[in-house]
Amino acid sequence: MNKNSILTFSSESGNVPSGTDRSGADRSGTDPSGADLSGINPAGTDPSGIDGSGFDPSGPSQASGILNPLKLETDRESGSLRPESFDEYVGQAETVETLKIAIEAAKMRGESLDHVLLHGPPGLGKTTVSHIIANEMGSHLTVTSGPALEKGGDLLGILTNLNTGDFLFIDEIHRIPKAVEEFLYPAMEDYAVDFVFDKGLHARSHRFRLKPFTLVGATTRVGLISSPLRDRFGIFRNLDFYDIDELVTIIKRSSLLLDVPMDDQAASELARRSRGTPRIANRLLKRVRDYAQVKYQGKITIESVKAALLLEGVDEMGLTPIDRSYLKTIIEFYSGGPVGIEAVSATLQEETDTLVDVVEPYLLKCGLVLRTSSGRKASGAAYEHLKIPCQRELF
Ligand SMILES: Nc1ncnc2c1ncn2[C@@H]1O[C@H](COP(=O)(O)OP(=O)(O)OP(=O)(O)O)[C@@H](O)[C@H]1O
Ligand SMILES: [Mg+2]
Repeated sequence: MNKNSILTFSSESGNVPSGTDRSGADRSGTDPSGADLSGINPAGTDPSGIDGSGFDPSGPSQASGILNPLKLETDRESGSLRPESFDEYVGQAETVETLKIAIEAAKMRGESLDHVLLHGPPGLGKTTVSHIIANEMGSHLTVTSGPALEKGGDLLGILTNLNTGDFLFIDEIHRIPKAVEEFLYPAMEDYAVDFVFDKGLHARSHRFRLKPFTLVGATTRVGLISSPLRDRFGIFRNLDFYDIDELVTIIKRSSLLLDVPMDDQAASELARRSRGTPRIANRLLKRVRDYAQVKYQGKITIESVKAALLLEGVDEMGLTPIDRSYLKTIIEFYSGGPVGIEAVSATLQEETDTLVDVVEPYLLKCGLVLRTSSGRKASGAAYEHLKIPCQRELF
């Protein structure tokens, strides 16, 4: 245990000696500044409710830019187009219903909401839902992300500053360091944090009581969340890709907010090419708006949508250049597979994480690629879509 590892609290801060050392020496990575929000990584907390993660794992790759469902720093539209209540939120009917019931019940009992874990591919509305939940409960939301919580002290500072009924949103919760994650267990279960102070022979464990709060976790990789953490969430929901009708509704809502009139045909064409993802739908809408403004006197019609998306490299199924290169790599370099994801990412010179998080979910959903125990395989539909003749028996 090093010197910096001891977290000091004044005796009047409500510490109760627990007698049982549940925290253990490995919880010692706390900083004396931990209890003070000012000492915490500024990227970690954002009382304004704006997502402070700024995480773009795609790097300077083909996947970056408007076709990337990951949130970019330049995502100005997110602020203005993000629904603020369940009435404005489109789709994910079962998740919304579960949450509405849980919120109403918690309000009736005057309790804080159970902890919520939302998972699913990027751009489907996890952050949006967490903001809505806090709005509907009329509570304050503190936003942070897994990678921003480097030390136990970062998390302790945030937790001890939460008031009764407040919400803590941790984006990319699968990226919390293990030592920090362990502070969350008693915090979620008993609204308490255990910490060790003094050291060596004099080391003592103390339990610091927290006010009842709700943790909302979001992740694109639920498989990477340890089971002790996963089991502590009372509400566990997966957000799935949106269907065409839902995307049409989202696009029409956004076009009204952006004040760009468009006809039904144009809205459905755009919806069909949005990879089932509202973030992509909103981004493409903005590109189509620009295109129509310059080339079609501001009128968004099916022709202007098709022409604008051709320029963006988005095909009739909504596949982007990186989706097509991924499929072509499997087909042309690895005879259709099966091939390991590492081999595909090396050939494509893309991050494996980008392929797994961003590219594959939609291709799997469309049945263009199959995941088998021996690796990824291109399906017959992929050959057909890319108009590559299939030379051999696929299965
Ligand atoms: N159900 C919805 N109805 C209308 N718009 C939506 C909906 N879901 C998402 N959006 C729009 O899509 C954008 C992206 O959503 P959001 O940021 O919540 O995704 P996310 O799942 O948190 O993504 P990430 O995993 O990258 O953090 C929002 O800014 C919002 O404008
Ligand atoms: Mg998000």
